[in-house]
Amino acid sequence: MLRPAEEVGEILVDEATIRAEVARLGARISADYAGRQPHLIGVLKGAAVFIADLVRALTVPATLDFISIVPYGEVTASGVVRIRKDLDDPIEGKDVIVVEGICASGLSLSYLLRNFETRHPASLRVCAFAAKRRPRPPDVVLDYVGREIPDTFVVGYGLDAQERYRHLPYIARLE
Ligand code: IMP
Ligand code: MG
Repeated sequence: MLRPAEEVGEILVDEATIRAEVARLGARISADYAGRQPHLIGVLKGAAVFIADLVRALTVPATLDFISIVPYGEVTASGVVRIRKDLDDPIEGKDVIVVEGICASGLSLSYLLRNFETRHPASLRVCAFAAKRRPRPPDVVLDYVGREIPDTFVVGYGLDAQERYRHLPYIARLE
């Protein structure tokens, strides 16, 4: 069994930077949603660690729900995904913020946003902790982004490679 140090490469976002970015995002969202109660929807499992930090960085009350999607086949190039675990609660009339660990092609978010729109939320925004520097579908607007990172495969802070490395407290390249 390989230890992380043998596979995990350069740290792209260290722990202190993550803390600072989460605080900054939390303050911005709290200001934007003053007097309201955002409904945060975490995209499992990659967003699990981030959403736990983000919700505690808010000064407005928030509610939480989660969705889990599975891309059909190995490659998501079609943007076709299947819902493995749907939301527990309706979002009609709610101020929804979709919370993603990382946005790569943006196809998952494109699908989710189209799906959520049909459920008539009062508002719908996106918060991604990390976004790869690469083109995204025009309908995918990242309202809140922590860090832009190179278009390379990364792990840690909730992000996995075949379910490993989610526990790492930083985001690093996978060698
Ligand atoms: P997208 O649909 O290409 O934007 O990819 C979104 C999903 O793919 C994310 O929610 C992650 O689960 C996964 N993903 C994309 N890039 C990475 C990466 O570099 N490391 C780990 N997971 C990733
Ligand atoms: Mg994954």
